[in-house]
Amino acid sequence: MRGFHPALAAFSGLPVAERLFVHARLFSAPLEVMASKAKGTRLADIGCGHGVLVALLAVGFPERQVFGLDPDARKIDWARRSIGAFSNVTLETGTVESLAQRRPASFDTLFVADVLYLLPPAQWPSFLSACRALLVPGGRLVLKEAENDGSWRAKKALLQEQVMVKLLRRTHESGAIGFEPRATLERALQETGFSLVESASLTRGYTTPHVLFVAECA
Ligand SMILES: C[S@@+](CC[C@H](N)C(=O)[O-])C[C@H]1O[C@@H](n2cnc3c(N)ncnc32)[C@H](O)[C@@H]1O
Repeated sequence: MRGFHPALAAFSGLPVAERLFVHARLFSAPLEVMASKAKGTRLADIGCGHGVLVALLAVGFPERQVFGLDPDARKIDWARRSIGAFSNVTLETGTVESLAQRRPASFDTLFVADVLYLLPPAQWPSFLSACRALLVPGGRLVLKEAENDGSWRAKKALLQEQVMVKLLRRTHESGAIGFEPRATLERALQETGFSLVESASLTRGYTTPHVLFVAECA
């Protein structure tokens, strides 16, 4: 059943509100589909939040090394308290730009789930270039966003995110909250030098217009 992956047992020691959040996150976003796109063993989740996707990538895969990064120290603290003791997981507080300077060409696959919508589009080139710099030649980026397709789902998702960021303050503001059309996201990836391998709607069964991109360094 969606939202009850065995890897979530790692979060069972968290306070109930955080535990519920983690289960709701897995129920409402296709993180398992993202995890299925991993290539290679050196993996990183950029903007990992509580670390749900890191858990999906790491639990049961001892051959992998999974790195989780987020600028929000509160979230990295929740992640450390749940998956931080796993020998194949490393967690850090910081931005993708700072990590790219310290560890260029270090990862086979990079995951980014629902981060770009928090950044003004003018910051996307810097963010995506840093992602590219972190990947080995031929490395893979697995990116998920919600797309602005003009549907009721897009309007609902925007309202939901405004509540999460501005009212509940569960996610720190990073300069914007907004969804862009799929073509804008595809163009941003291509302009950063990524070749698009897959661009797929994952809306079915969800109330958010999820869109998944798999792109590789040309
Ligand atoms: C909506 S949350 C998604 C969290 C997680 N990816 C998930 O799917 O559950 C967006 C995350 O992006 C992080 N973030 C914002 N700007 C970032 C940046 N420049 N580099 C890395 N992460 C960033 C935020 O702190 C936040 O935790």
